[in-house]
Amino acid sequence: MSEVRKKRVTIHDFLSKKGKEKIVMLAVYDYPMTKIIDECGIDGILVGDSVIMNVYGFPNTLYATLNDIIRHTKAVANAKPRALIVADMPFMTYEVSKKEAVKNAAKLIKAGADAVKLEGGVEIVDKIEAIIKAGIPVMGHIGLTPQRILKFGGYKLMGRTAELGLKLIEDAKALEEVGVFSIVVELTTREVAREITNRVKVPTICIGSGPDCDGQILVLHDILGLSDLKLSFVKQYIDLRSIIKNVIQEYINDVKLGRFPGVEHFKTMSENEYRKLQELLRQKFS
Ligand code: KIV
Repeated sequence: MSEVRKKRVTIHDFLSKKGKEKIVMLAVYDYPMTKIIDECGIDGILVGDSVIMNVYGFPNTLYATLNDIIRHTKAVANAKPRALIVADMPFMTYEVSKKEAVKNAAKLIKAGADAVKLEGGVEIVDKIEAIIKAGIPVMGHIGLTPQRILKFGGYKLMGRTAELGLKLIEDAKALEEVGVFSIVVELTTREVAREITNRVKVPTICIGSGPDCDGQILVLHDILGLSDLKLSFVKQYIDLRSIIKNVIQEYINDVKLGRFPGVEHFKTMSENEYRKLQELLRQKFS
């Protein structure tokens, strides 16, 4: 019997949830986790460039390459989630020219993404517009944009002053104007996130910017307690690291003490075949 597929979440579903129902997203990078979280009914999955920190141990997202995100997008897409798949465009895959931005966005779509996400406001709207004109949906990302940490000098709260807040609201309006279908608002003051949410027609997805956005996104590794970073805006739901350590300790003890493998974990020959084997061994080696 053929598998009954659920209707996939589209960018139009995202748009229609604005002001009606909160959108929930997670940054996830692989096949098994995608299967699990999709069964829980998540709306969107971001194949985030944070993969380069959480899976590969690099110190920041500047190290992510297009091939890294293509590989992980394929892994997520192979799980055939119902959720919308958004792939991050890594640092320097869209800044140089519109042509390069479109070509690289297309590679992520061919890997299985439904949309791409770019970090930046007014300064990159020409690239975003070119990608959207090529038929590829774009999610914006403003506020703290980790690909610009060299410029910011670290991970800092954005929009603390009226002037800086206004600049972020202008960024959001510029993104809306060129046609993004939603905007990630990262680590801004609550007031700025609220003003943006009230002033744009597309849904805003917050991370560390308070409760007034149209949705929230966190990184799966952070909520499970698997990442090295301890971030004030993350709610860690479980300390999976300790649970995993206990399991591994048990496995080590079981092997050392001869409790694993048990009879249920291996197969034996028939007694007759074993007798024959012993006879063959005697003939050959004694
Ligand atoms: O790469 C990432 O994880 C992100 C966040 C917004 C979740 O961009």
